Amino acid sequence: MRNIAVIGAGQMGTGIAQTVAANGMTVLLSDVDLAHAEAGKANVEKAMVKLMGRGKIEAAEAEALLARITPVADYAPMSEADLIIEAATEREAVKNAIFEAAGKVLSAGAIMASNTSSIPITRMANFSPDPARFIGLHFFNPVPVMGLIEVIPGLATSPATTDRVTAFARGLGKEVVLSQDEPGFVVNRILLPMINEAVFVLGQSTAGIEDIDKGCRLGLNHPMGPLQLADFVGLDTCLDIIKVLYKTTRDSKYRPAPLLVKYVEAGWLGRKTGRGFYDYTGEFPVPTR
Ligand code: 3HC
Repeated sequence: MRNIAVIGAGQMGTGIAQTVAANGMTVLLSDVDLAHAEAGKANVEKAMVKLMGRGKIEAAEAEALLARITPVADYAPMSEADLIIEAATEREAVKNAIFEAAGKVLSAGAIMASNTSSIPITRMANFSPDPARFIGLHFFNPVPVMGLIEVIPGLATSPATTDRVTAFARGLGKEVVLSQDEPGFVVNRILLPMINEAVFVLGQSTAGIEDIDKGCRLGLNHPMGPLQLADFVGLDTCLDIIKVLYKTTRDSKYRPAPLLVKYVEAGWLGRKTGRGFYDYTGEFPVPTR
């Protein structure tokens, strides 16, 4: 695969674009409009400046990487893409509308993939032009750093599609875990109940924010505590995923923690809004409770 299209220029989409471009492929990056796509590329530029500052990348290499990312205003140029990766917001209706619209330009033989965190692949495949060429490709945040990609074939996905996408993921230097199309796949099925439980622990005043995170960092050797990680992922995304687990399994163990719902209702969505379980507006994060 040489030409990749990424739809959604947020945290995940730009991370995917950077990683793909770092591996020599060209990227068409789109969002709701050109300005959002350009803002996404600007975030990759910021990452390059940081990496250059740390001596991790040469200026010429960074420039070449950035030149391989082209922000686009619409899906028309994606008729040239070998693979279209949807990395939009975790709302099924939004994703389905993208599959229908981008499906109109998907060339014969090209593959359409979703970076969904939890929505069933088999169901979304119906909105793409060819469910045999539709698959889940789940990246982890920060994409350039994390070593894993989950590959999730739906019921109708052809073995050839799974093989091509697995080879693509390995070509990015990532390890692949193959998951059946079950709610939350492998990693989020395990991670989100942990984050949700941490919010229950907080809501029941068993411990404070810092102690819950410290407990998991030092007691489990996790790089971040669950509340810090929730802020990093985005509390709205966490809530969306746990809701999908709850709705699709109807298992009460996945019921969202009321305090998580409250934070999302308050618009305290984590790092991206400057406030979640921690306040990020000062020099150091400060717990909000
Ligand atoms: N591009 C390339 N490299 C980057 C980068 C970027 N945009 N950003 C950071 N890096 C590199 C740094 O250069 C550094 O490299 P080095 O170790 O060789 O010096 C390394 O990544 C670590 O960066 P920092 O020193 O800035 O930060 P930390 O050491 O504090 O680590 C972290 C930050 C990697 C985010 C770490 O805290 C971590 O692993 N946290 C857990 C992340 C996690 O669990 N992610 C999964 C979330 S779940 C998910 O995504 C699924 C979704 O569906 C919800």
